[in-house]
Amino acid sequence: MFLSTATVAIAAATAGLVSAAPVTEKRADGINDGVILNYALTLEHLEDTFYRQGLANFTEDDFKAAGFDETFYGNVKKVSADETAHVGFLTEALKAAGVAPVAECTYNFGVTDVKTFLATASVLEGVGVSAYLGAAADIMSKTYLTAAGSILTVEARHSSYIRAGLKQAPFAQPFDAPLSINEVYSLASQFIVSCPKENPPLPVKAFPRLALSPDTRMPVKTGDTVTLLTPDYTLKGAEGQKIYAAFIAVTGPTFVEATPVQGGFSVKIPEGFAGQSYVVLTGCNDSVTDDTVAAGPAIIEISS
Ligand SMILES: *[C@@H]1O[C@H](CO)[C@@H](O)[C@H](O)[C@H]1NC(C)=O
Ligand SMILES: *[C@@H]1O[C@H](CO)[C@@H](O)[C@H](O)[C@H]1NC(C)=O
Repeated sequence: MFLSTATVAIAAATAGLVSAAPVTEKRADGINDGVILNYALTLEHLEDTFYRQGLANFTEDDFKAAGFDETFYGNVKKVSADETAHVGFLTEALKAAGVAPVAECTYNFGVTDVKTFLATASVLEGVGVSAYLGAAADIMSKTYLTAAGSILTVEARHSSYIRAGLKQAPFAQPFDAPLSINEVYSLASQFIVSCPKENPPLPVKAFPRLALSPDTRMPVKTGDTVTLLTPDYTLKGAEGQKIYAAFIAVTGPTFVEATPVQGGFSVKIPEGFAGQSYVVLTGCNDSVTDDTVAAGPAIIEISS
């Protein structure tokens, strides 16, 4: 069997993880390092499948016809190989720790051409960065934390490279936003059709969907009023309750009032956000936790 450099690197890297623990320690919320690694693996499988499908769907000529040269195409192939290496690395780390790794699911990416493929790639890389960042504080083992950090930095490089290719600001703001496990799962689950029933269940849940209206005039800027659609969430029984939109940031959320409109809520984009931004609906304006999130996150690309 042909051993790629990636395979060798994975073997060497995971050898150092074998003695790392406590992967299965019980916490009240069911989260431990084994769960976090499987959560990361869930996302890496999604990305890995996404790039393999996209590169099977579209040729170098298709990329050229869409305005992306051979260097760009070659780098997208490298991104795809990186995601495959991340899957291998996490799978081996979980096995070494005695935890069953999750397998690939089936997905619906809704990609129709090179442009939508790259737009989705950009969104996925950004969510990946925010996922690793948000999970960092929950990782108990410093060895795993460093390993996760080494993936995070590469996802951030992918994100800025693809954003630059799409003529978006490659690093739109000085800080990235951390997302919680359930917030990320809420976004990822929109692509997941079904998973193998042998996959170990993870203690995660998806919040009701929230999405920027497709009628939104682009680009979205600070001060614009946009509509966030909530197909799975209504105020029924909670009329009169104030609803807020919380824009997520590492320094804490910015709350703005969310005004009910047909099909969702109208929200004014606050100051201080640029690039791929995340907003959730909440029933209070002092905290964003799994208990206060009513729907979301929605992703809004904000131009500065
Ligand atoms: C690949 O093509 C299929 C069929 O058109 C489509 O459903 C899928 O979303 C595409 N996936 C990617 C990642 O391009
Ligand atoms: C937060 O809610 C309180 C009432 O519960 C209100 O007095 C305050 O103005 C609100 N702040 C914002 C930023 O909306």
